[in-house]
Amino acid sequence: MSRRKHGRWTAGWLMLALVALTVLTGMSPNPETATTAPSESESGNIQHSKFLNVAHRGASGHAPENTLAAFDKAVEMKADYFELDVQRSKDGHLVLMHDTTVDRTTDGTGAVKDLTLTELKALDAGSWFSDKYAGEKIPTLEETLDRYRGTGIKILIELKSPSLYPGIEQQVADMLAEKNLDNRGDKIIVQSFDHDSVQRFHRQMPSVPVGVLVSYTAYKETGVTDDDLDSFAGYADYVNPNKALVDAELVRRVHQHGMKILPYTVRDREAADRLFEAGVDGFITDYPELGYTHHHK
Ligand code: G3P
Ligand code: CA
Repeated sequence: MSRRKHGRWTAGWLMLALVALTVLTGMSPNPETATTAPSESESGNIQHSKFLNVAHRGASGHAPENTLAAFDKAVEMKADYFELDVQRSKDGHLVLMHDTTVDRTTDGTGAVKDLTLTELKALDAGSWFSDKYAGEKIPTLEETLDRYRGTGIKILIELKSPSLYPGIEQQVADMLAEKNLDNRGDKIIVQSFDHDSVQRFHRQMPSVPVGVLVSYTAYKETGVTDDDLDSFAGYADYVNPNKALVDAELVRRVHQHGMKILPYTVRDREAADRLFEAGVDGFITDYPELGYTHHHK
């Protein structure tokens, strides 16, 4: 056999081996062409190559909610997002707290809106959870945005009880603009149970995706109707319901309306598996480890 012909044979075998390797390992020869977009499976279910694992109030099963310790834990556990609740101090600072009073999660008492930032910062927001976290502080939104810039984690901001804080939508939008976080790309999502507030934020900052939180109590009688979804789809990118409202049929209808669905709050394996089977785009969980199995499927 001539050298040239032998070379052609070798090249042919090499090509065949590469094709076989690709088929056997499922690897695309060109990583650029490996799709990450949702696609239809044979069964007709949408396949999500990127399941969004959202740490609720930070990894709040492991560290005190809405503190830097809980957010650090979410980063350490490689969650995609952490969720936080934003409210406003008496002197106008955006601070992170779930309840509208500090009573449950600090050593103080009183409404968030009646305490100054100095008073809020003097509180211990960690001891109620464990002595290990004694002295943990209530964070501001600003210090949180600054701390996690460049870490790769994204942030789901909930406007908590915004009717108590007139103008908070504009204030959050201004803060995001100041931090150059007002561009699309899902680095930040803003959500609320108060859908008027979500719409106000959306009008002020249409470049940042928004979500509607859907509570069990408000929707348990009717479920989430197509009329609801038509209305949400006019401004929202995410529909985030209580997990008890979610089944495969709702997931299908949310997708049909061009939105994603991130149910809350997952605290056990059974719920995590059920929601994943229903085809959700991710979930909001106190325990980011519950998202791992799904994450890597
Ligand atoms: O992000 C969803 C979840 O945070 C909504 O419920 O009461 O924990 O703020 P809640
Ligand atoms: Ca929340």
